[in-house]
Amino acid sequence: MNITLGQNNRVLSGMRPTGLLHLGHYHGVLKNWIELQHSYECFYFVADWHALTTHYENPAIIGESSRNMVVDWLATGVNPGNSTIFVQSRVPEHAELHTLLSMITPLGWLERVPSFKDQQEKLKDKDLATYGFLGYPLLQSADILMYKAAFVPVGEDQVAHIELTREVARRFNHLYGKEVDFEQKAETAITKMGKKNAKLYKETRKRYQEQGDIEALSVGRALLESQQNISLTDRERLLGFLDGGGRILLPEPQSLLTVSSKMPGIDGQKMSKSYGNTISLREEPDAVAKKIKTMPTDPARVRRNDPGDPEKCPVWKLHQVYSSEDIKSQVVEGCKTASIGCIDCKQYIVDAIIEELKPIQRRVKDYLSDLSGVDSIINEGCEAARDVAQDTIEEVRKVMGLTTR
Ligand code: TRP
Ligand code: SF4
Repeated sequence: MNITLGQNNRVLSGMRPTGLLHLGHYHGVLKNWIELQHSYECFYFVADWHALTTHYENPAIIGESSRNMVVDWLATGVNPGNSTIFVQSRVPEHAELHTLLSMITPLGWLERVPSFKDQQEKLKDKDLATYGFLGYPLLQSADILMYKAAFVPVGEDQVAHIELTREVARRFNHLYGKEVDFEQKAETAITKMGKKNAKLYKETRKRYQEQGDIEALSVGRALLESQQNISLTDRERLLGFLDGGGRILLPEPQSLLTVSSKMPGIDGQKMSKSYGNTISLREEPDAVAKKIKTMPTDPARVRRNDPGDPEKCPVWKLHQVYSSEDIKSQVVEGCKTASIGCIDCKQYIVDAIIEELKPIQRRVKDYLSDLSGVDSIINEGCEAARDVAQDTIEEVRKVMGLTTR
């Protein structure tokens, strides 16, 4: 059982800076990130080392994309007041944790991750038989475990990486799980609860551990949950002390599967840079119109008064994302009876996308006109992330015998 659940509501996710963000990122990822900010403590980062594992021959694109990506995050509504926004390479502790975790990770676990072979197949023009690429999922595990994130919002293609992270965490906890001086630290933490609660805690612990009283266990947990005056770390200790499991150093994360609105591209396939079917968040209105107007439609509609079937048309998929029920039924009716033409039908989409992008592009412009503001947001985020990372790496070093500092 993951005892830290219920206490820990931290979310972490990263994005690779390999080019301009497009509507697929917005609908498939960013909207979800923005939503999560209301209920969770969120950490969002630029995964620049991850980008290098596949784009090591093109460092310019990583340099260009990193800050621009943060600008687009901010413009769409990622809020630095609610979330910690940082850059992976600016928190070098990620590399240290990656190295330390690599000591205990069997090679087979990495070779078995599906994306290792899949991507090598898919990106044939790149040599991905590298050490860095093999280690990619473990670097991701380090990113996640560093912040002891409970939840990781990802798409389906990343679930295997979260699974690996859970296995690595389990192995780590099995090997080094118990904190040095755990009992003593737990006893000290008890004293911070106040006299009355400390007494209650000790009683419930005794009832559970000596008599197996399950109810006492839940009373004890509820008591800890309601304690305002102890730190997260102490709470974890006391939870572990209560059930006798010790303190879990690296909690296992769960993936939060993005119920991905499969944002279609202008060819009807999933929008993705590798298909060349994207509309960027910075696309000019004219370019948006041009892209939509040249989209293929149901081939049956050769002439204006040939009827068609929306199910056979990629434009219809965009109506699913952008149009009201009312417009959608007009489109179905109009397409099937040839009472509307494809140009009219597409105009709804052009208008909706331009309308959606307008406020985002206005904010992009504002941020770009004052990049020092963006840089301070990034600097502050990196500092805050580093504080957390340093605490974790300190604990990890200690349990792995690296205690000479
Ligand atoms: N691998 C992720 C992707 O390709 C990016 C990523 C790196 C990430 N580290 C992460 C996502 C940690 C979530 C958590 O999209
Ligand atoms: Fe597609 Fe609309 Fe034309 Fe029908 S009317 S074929 S849905 S673009």
